[in-house]
Amino acid sequence: MKVKVIDHPLVQHKLSLIRDIKTGPKEFRELLEEISMLMTYEITRDLPLEDITVETPMGPCACKTLSGKKVGIVPVLRAGLGMLSGMLRLIPTAKVGHIGLYRDPQTLKPVEYYCKLPTDVAERDFIIVDPMLATGGSSVASIDLLQRYGVKHIKLMCLVAAPEGVRLVNEKHPEVEIYVAALDDHLNDHGYIIPGLGDAGDRIFGTK
Ligand code: PRP
Ligand code: URA
Repeated sequence: MKVKVIDHPLVQHKLSLIRDIKTGPKEFRELLEEISMLMTYEITRDLPLEDITVETPMGPCACKTLSGKKVGIVPVLRAGLGMLSGMLRLIPTAKVGHIGLYRDPQTLKPVEYYCKLPTDVAERDFIIVDPMLATGGSSVASIDLLQRYGVKHIKLMCLVAAPEGVRLVNEKHPEVEIYVAALDDHLNDHGYIIPGLGDAGDRIFGTK
């Protein structure tokens, strides 16, 4: 399995809190924002830099600046929205696309209901964000969609993944790097991640 687990102590501590059944929507949203910010810090390590000279009050200083690589973030609706604000805190110039998918409760297959992407997709590196990578159907459908629009470089950032979902994305899209805060044990018969954290969308928006 090709997946990078972000094992930073702050991420792991906050992940334990967010999993807890006693954590309500307000705290869940705050933790998800914080974890997303920390994960973004890790997954943007390869952003290219270039040299610049900055004039400090004491004189010129050789510095670095981001070399203008354009980034796109695509939250998968609904639950991916919970990860967006934390990411935009660190990459405020990123453009944001939205993909609307829900998982049919019977077939567990993703059903697409919305897609709106930035116009200059081919020039940007994209990060797809969704807290849960379960069967992998939603992530594969999101990657397929972005590639149909001409996106070349995609990373996938999820909070919790099941091995089944990682394997499917690896198989269908070996070119996509997957970053998660945890790789859990398995899926149950209803396609929920065990131990997981329950239904991410419902916990973010308080719908159950
Ligand atoms: C959840 C989750 C993923 C999907 C993962 O969304 O946010 O998008 O399920 O499952 P998969 O890997 O088996 O496709 P859900 O369908 O519950 O929609 P929601 O975000 O609107 O609640
Ligand atoms: N979607 C969720 O929100 N949670 C799971 O465990 C699986 C899919």
